[in-house]
Amino acid sequence: MKQIKIAENLPNDKDFNTLYADAGWGEVKPEVLKTIRQLTNFAVSVYNDKKIIAMGRIFGDGLHFGIYDVTVLQDYRGKDFGTVIMDKLLDWFDKQPNSPHLTLGSVSGSEKFYEKFGFKCCPFNDATTGINLGAGMKYCGRSKT
Ligand SMILES: CC(C)(COP(=O)(O)OP(=O)(O)OC[C@H]1O[C@@H](n2cnc3c(N)ncnc32)[C@H](O)[C@@H]1OP(=O)(O)O)[C@@H](O)C(=O)NCCC(=O)NCCS
Repeated sequence: MKQIKIAENLPNDKDFNTLYADAGWGEVKPEVLKTIRQLTNFAVSVYNDKKIIAMGRIFGDGLHFGIYDVTVLQDYRGKDFGTVIMDKLLDWFDKQPNSPHLTLGSVSGSEKFYEKFGFKCCPFNDATTGINLGAGMKYCGRSKT
């Protein structure tokens, strides 16, 4: 590895899509990337010299926040870059006032990675709030009958 650089912002559009393609998530259109830039509260990008190798971001409204787009270039996985991203995102989140909620949707197989940072798979009983949390759910369209 050359020189590792950690930036507290989003990668440029080309680098964002380099990581997206590498993760098998396709391509994000420029107009969507523009909105992502406006709405993201905090992001982390990691470079090996000038080459993008990892990113992650967090956004929300002060009551609810979500972690999205945490990804490490395939050749660089298992070398703690995911940990660097998560630690920075959580450092930022832990400083937010008014005890907001933080959630994420893990891709299948990455749950154990997030568990290392204090996330729990739903459903579970949240002892801190006393709430029985059900499963996270994703909208897939209304059935037209
Ligand atoms: C998930 C991902 C971000 C992890 O990044 P990484 O740089 O490889 O992770 P790290 O090297 O920091 O690993 C930290 C720890 O998590 C573990 N870990 C990482 N990925 C894991 C996985 N998929 N399942 C179980 N454990 C995992 C590591 O073994 C390591 O454990 P240790 O602390 O006991 O040594 C990376 O594998 C990735 O980009 N995957 C594809 C995209 C993706 O699924 N992102 C999540 C979107 S929801």
